[in-house]
Amino acid sequence: MWLHWLLAAALVAMFALGIYMTDLPFSPARLKLYNWHKWAGMTVLALSALRLLWRLTHPAPALPVTIASAMPAWQRMAHHGTHHALYLLFFAVPVLGWVYSSAAGFPVVVFGMLPLPDLVAASPDLADSLKPLHKLAALAMGALVLMHVGAAVKHQLIDRDGLMHRMLPGRKA
Ligand code: HEM
Ligand code: HEM
Repeated sequence: MWLHWLLAAALVAMFALGIYMTDLPFSPARLKLYNWHKWAGMTVLALSALRLLWRLTHPAPALPVTIASAMPAWQRMAHHGTHHALYLLFFAVPVLGWVYSSAAGFPVVVFGMLPLPDLVAASPDLADSLKPLHKLAALAMGALVLMHVGAAVKHQLIDRDGLMHRMLPGRKA
């Protein structure tokens, strides 16, 4: 639950920073933000690995019967499908960013101190093909997050079934 809210805030910030920094003119400030985006993204990747490990060792509590039985089959499928697709993108987005940086010939230096290995050798052609994929994956994640938040708000305001309490401190189910 705490990782959910921490990573929700971090992913929104990473998305906004990505859009903002790519629109800046070439300058030392742009370079600095690119480096921040890269090492902050690697921190998000590490926290996502921790989150996946936690999820695999601590399965999510089943939906309460009252809520599950009120949902048509397509909604139950969308519920699980969205969560699985999000988990996939938690890894695909930063790894595509990392492999793009390597192909572009710019290593990732965590906290400006610890250089990480390059995932592929520098290649302008590969970099050109990978650049739009990082953006596309981030946009897909953004679209899924909007659907996810829309569904959470619908459960809270229209169904009024208390689903939201499962993600808040002091939850009962
Ligand atoms: C970047 C933003 C967000 C991401 C990436 C995200 C992702 C996820 C994921 C992957 C799950 C499944 C639980 C797990 O296994 O970790 C989940 C559950 C949940 N999220 Fe989010 N979330 C985000 C923002 C929000 C927001 C803003 C809300 C509320 C308005 C929300 C409400 C919920 C609720 C209520 C659940 C529990 C559903 C259940 O009980 O099965 N999430 N979220
Ligand atoms: C973890 C979550 C991440 C999110 C949500 C994210 C999101 C984004 C977004 C939305 C953009 C703007 C795309 C565009 O308009 O072209 C972007 C650009 C970029 N990202 Fe990420 N990113 C993440 C992680 C990473 C990581 C880990 C790296 C590298 C280690 C990275 C490297 C880059 C680079 C180099 C660009 C600039 C591409 C260009 O010049 O157009 N990102 N990112």
